[in-house]
Amino acid sequence: MEKGNILDIDRATKSFGGIKAVDGVSFSVKKGQIKALVGPNGAGKTTLFNIITGLYRADSGDVLFEGKKLFSYKPHELVKLGISRTFQNIQLVDTLTVKENIALGLHSKVKSNPIYAIFRLNRKQEKEVFEKVNKVSKFLKIEEYLNKFPNQVPFGIKRLIEIARALVSEPDLLLLDEPAAGLNEDETEFLLKSIFRVWEQGISILLIEHDMEFVTNCSHSIVVMDSGKKIAEGLPSEVMNDYRVVKAYMGE
Ligand SMILES: Nc1ncnc2c1ncn2[C@@H]1O[C@H](COP(=O)(O)OP(=O)(O)OP(=O)(O)O)[C@@H](O)[C@H]1O
Ligand SMILES: [Mg+2]
Repeated sequence: MEKGNILDIDRATKSFGGIKAVDGVSFSVKKGQIKALVGPNGAGKTTLFNIITGLYRADSGDVLFEGKKLFSYKPHELVKLGISRTFQNIQLVDTLTVKENIALGLHSKVKSNPIYAIFRLNRKQEKEVFEKVNKVSKFLKIEEYLNKFPNQVPFGIKRLIEIARALVSEPDLLLLDEPAAGLNEDETEFLLKSIFRVWEQGISILLIEHDMEFVTNCSHSIVVMDSGKKIAEGLPSEVMNDYRVVKAYMGE
């Protein structure tokens, strides 16, 4: 592990039946860096996120967060360590308000029992939780939706709620799985600005994205995956001109 890295992925490998979804992938995220993970459909990007966050156990390889091996931690313990994520398929609880959904991002910091934990807080804990929820909602300009339910808000707002839920725990490393997917131009612009404002707070970011223009605008470094393998890594300008990358994208 190199000093100054917040995340090191070392030869991570994961197969599903005969498919090598992630095949010996290694790269690092430096502290204070915005790193993008790109690649065509089925490249293994989400599988890699699921390995990092403990939803899948890798067949082999290691993932280190600030030098600590992550495989011994359960997904809900990662929030305490300082890692949080969003999901490619938005995962909000329809029967909870937006405010409560965002508060779920803190469950493992306040109590260990996931969904019901936020309803069993004492007054003081409740006040602290909702102060944090209000703060992050202001930051992402979604305060007006706090008392609504997820099915009453536009799609673009749902994506911001997912990000708010990930940010409310004040992570050191934020993992975003295709945050711009399905957003219109204005929403994409706002997302881009928000990502930079998150980064300005000292949070390191690893984000998955399809749109090359988006990642070129918002990342310091890019890793490209295709068919489970890392095929390129470097500055946006370098990676964009790499023939393997062009080929992987043209072949899509
Ligand atoms: N739980 C699973 N069971 C079986 N196969 C899986 C599972 N998860 C992923 N795969 C397979 O692993 C490969 C990589 O999938 P993954 O979702 O990681 O790709 P991706 O790069 O995130 O693609 P996309 O851009 O479409 O989101 C695909 O072939 C996919 O079908
Ligand atoms: Mg994916």
